[in-house]
Amino acid sequence: MNEKFLKTHKIKVPKKNETNHIWIDSKNEVLVFWRDNKLNIINSICPHMGAQLFYDQKEDLIKCPWHGLSAEPENCKTRHKRFKSFYKWKVIRVDNNYAFFTRS
Ligand code: FES
Repeated sequence: MNEKFLKTHKIKVPKKNETNHIWIDSKNEVLVFWRDNKLNIINSICPHMGAQLFYDQKEDLIKCPWHGLSAEPENCKTRHKRFKSFYKWKVIRVDNNYAFFTRS
């Protein structure tokens, strides 16, 4: 797909030690957190049954609280056969207090 047709979203960036859940439109809520000085933006709705994902800083994993699906933040791949990964957005730019991102 040609990137110039992809919608760019803008959100306020959380502080370095915070994790935020932010609705970016009527269908998409994202999980936003810093890791290794890099901003991560991931769909916060679990692909299994729709629970809200969270980032566990101690274990460095994105986790689902309902049935234990989890993934490393770098590649968002799970070990589940059917739900292979969480959706990670592509961060285009972080300026002052705002991040701009689009579909990867
Ligand atoms: S809803 Fe997330 S693992 Fe089931």
